[in-house]
Amino acid sequence: MLFKQQALLRQKLFVLGSLAIGSLLYLVARVGSLDRLQPLCPIDGRFGPRNQDEIPLRALQFKRGLLHEFRKGNATKEQIRLHNLVQQLPKAIIIGVRKGGTRALLEMLNLHPSVVKASQEIHFFDNDENYAKGIEWYRKKMPFSYPHQITIEKSPAYFITEEVPERIYKMNSSIKLLIIVREPTTRAISDYTQVLEGKERKNKTYYKFEKLAIDPNTCEVNTKYKAVRTSIYTKHLERWLKYFPIEQFHIVDGDRLITEPLPELQLVEKFLNLPPRISQYNLYFNATRGFYCLRFNIVFNKCLAGSKGRIHPEVDTSVITKLRKFFHPFNQKFYQITGRTFNWP
Ligand code: A3P
Repeated sequence: MLFKQQALLRQKLFVLGSLAIGSLLYLVARVGSLDRLQPLCPIDGRFGPRNQDEIPLRALQFKRGLLHEFRKGNATKEQIRLHNLVQQLPKAIIIGVRKGGTRALLEMLNLHPSVVKASQEIHFFDNDENYAKGIEWYRKKMPFSYPHQITIEKSPAYFITEEVPERIYKMNSSIKLLIIVREPTTRAISDYTQVLEGKERKNKTYYKFEKLAIDPNTCEVNTKYKAVRTSIYTKHLERWLKYFPIEQFHIVDGDRLITEPLPELQLVEKFLNLPPRISQYNLYFNATRGFYCLRFNIVFNKCLAGSKGRIHPEVDTSVITKLRKFFHPFNQKFYQITGRTFNWP
């Protein structure tokens, strides 16, 4: 009898325990998703403090919530109006460099509660057809944000396209411009790897990097090869400097963003006059990916897509040496102009 009662009690305790754990798990998950769906602290029917220093970290979750839901088509126009959301032209643009880490930079900056990213590359200033559609078309491509937030877009083709500096200048002559660079030879190989993967996907064959980077007639570096030309950073920057003073640019070290992202992001926060909000909590190293990934909150984190961080093909060392020697004087000039020195060979 006593044994039966004890068994019954154990059973009840087990059921109650399971219920408690279940409810707790449900609450944790629910609070996470609620944070992303509902306003946390409505003030006079408006959200988002007026003073940037007062932006609560939790606003980040709300920001992701409604904006995210709107993008998915779940938030109503009424909600957008009520919360005073607007589509703003970018206050800062990541203009390049392709394969420098532009996506990682944009996604990491988007961790900041005052930043809203344009998810897609808009290609407004480098594409004549898009540009002809006018600035309102561009603005309508921007994500919804609170008036106190800043919108950032990235289109790496801007850096190397001749017409772009003038066009951006015409939109906003005081815009902030971000350029993320990597050691030029590594960047060129990364660029090649991306194209190679595209060809392979279409079952096409492609040349070896060595064949493209070195002119077979002269045995010199082939400056007609786009992946090489893009890595001559100073040449492109000089074009931009005809329109914008150097103070309007911030150079991000893309190699350091891979290994030690936080200090690089803190420099960008400073450049953008944003209060420091991105912390080590927001970034965690994922050993499987071999890269830092993003943590927005207890339930929401993400790594970049697999197309970021490809394995590069092996390249003949003599070609690498030749390329490094070729880039060297351009790099020196780049350090001189930007005031930022890198340990590039
Ligand atoms: P690789 O694929 O050569 O490794 P972009 O976004 O401009 O195309 O740049 C892609 C590069 O971003 C990748 O080049 C990768 O090295 C770099 N990168 C920097 N931080 C990263 C991160 N946290 N996750 C994935 N890739 C990152």
